Amino acid sequence: MRRNGAKKSGFSIKGAIGFFALMAVVIQIAVMVYDYIIQRTTDKGLIAILILVIVVALAVACTVVDIIRRKIMVDRPVNKILEATERITAGDFSVSLTPMHAYGKYDEYDEIMENLNTMVAALGKSEILKNDFISNVSHELKTPLTVIQNYATLLQEKDLDEESRRRYAKTLFDASRRLTNLITNILKLNKLENQEIKPEWETFDLTEALTQTVLGYEELIESKRLRLECDLDEIVIRSAPGYLDLVWNNLLSNAIKFTEAGGTVGVTLKRQEKNAVLTVSDTGCGISPEVGARIFEKFYQGDTSHSGEGNGLGLALVKKVIDILGGEISVRSEVGKGSTFTVILRGVQNEK
Ligand SMILES: Nc1ncnc2c1ncn2[C@@H]1O[C@H](COP(=O)(O)OP(=O)(O)OP(=O)(O)O)[C@@H](O)[C@H]1O
Ligand SMILES: [Mg+2]
Repeated sequence: MRRNGAKKSGFSIKGAIGFFALMAVVIQIAVMVYDYIIQRTTDKGLIAILILVIVVALAVACTVVDIIRRKIMVDRPVNKILEATERITAGDFSVSLTPMHAYGKYDEYDEIMENLNTMVAALGKSEILKNDFISNVSHELKTPLTVIQNYATLLQEKDLDEESRRRYAKTLFDASRRLTNLITNILKLNKLENQEIKPEWETFDLTEALTQTVLGYEELIESKRLRLECDLDEIVIRSAPGYLDLVWNNLLSNAIKFTEAGGTVGVTLKRQEKNAVLTVSDTGCGISPEVGARIFEKFYQGDTSHSGEGNGLGLALVKKVIDILGGEISVRSEVGKGSTFTVILRGVQNEK
């Protein structure tokens, strides 16, 4: 990557003039010595030796100048770069090279050093992300696995009454479902990030798709004694229904999960010119600004009282999908009062 203002060529006019002047002085001295001796002798043998000496002296002088020039201009930066690449290969991402010239007078080696710095910074960042990801996944795997181990041991007890057996079996089932959800979500996110799956675009009835998703939650909403309010415009859209399913499911399940009995969950779908605007709102615990700033991060869970019910991947998936579809997602919330997630999608097809 070339930087604006940085000098772009390794060729330096100043250096070339200096080298030329030095060579001119050396050759001039050689000519003067030759001239001095030739005026004092006619011995051809001596003159031949003299020419040989002068040629050798000139060759030695050129070689010495070249060695010094290479030491300063090539070996120094190359050794610096070599040493840095060895440290990077050994896993040291704290490497930062200082260019040999001031900014604006960069030669090619300075450019390589700057590019190497940028590369190492990016590598260091992805290494941190990778380590964080591994430690998050390990943590999320450990919790349900410990539950499974403990309850499997309890189930082996003799004289276990029917009620306890059923309770332990349910806990085992919940923990294994949590593991399955975790792995499914990680795989989905991974595929989305690596663009292994592409959205399948089609024109479809968004209102109908949304209604079906909401109906799927009716039982859960009733069992939690929540009220459901829906206000959906008729909208046909060109988008990816499979991807959007994931969005509605995550937003709705969050709204239900974070709202106490007696609360309300609302879904609206409105048309604004060529955009479809969907909101999923609740009168639940709400989100503080500090938590709100991080909810779309992988594995982030703000409300620890519900942390046993998920892995903090839902909204990361939602955000990824919305980004891929070219839409927008935002959240408005007040602690203790509730939250409203708003999704804007382009591609509305039906005329008004
Ligand atoms: N409707 C909501 N009300 C209050 N807090 C919310 C709401 N939706 C999300 N959050 C906060 O954002 C965090 C991240 O949400 P996300 O959906 O990514 O994870 P999760 O629901 O905890 O787990 P998962 O989605 O993996 O089951 C939640 O843990 C919670 O703190
Ligand atoms: Mg969730």
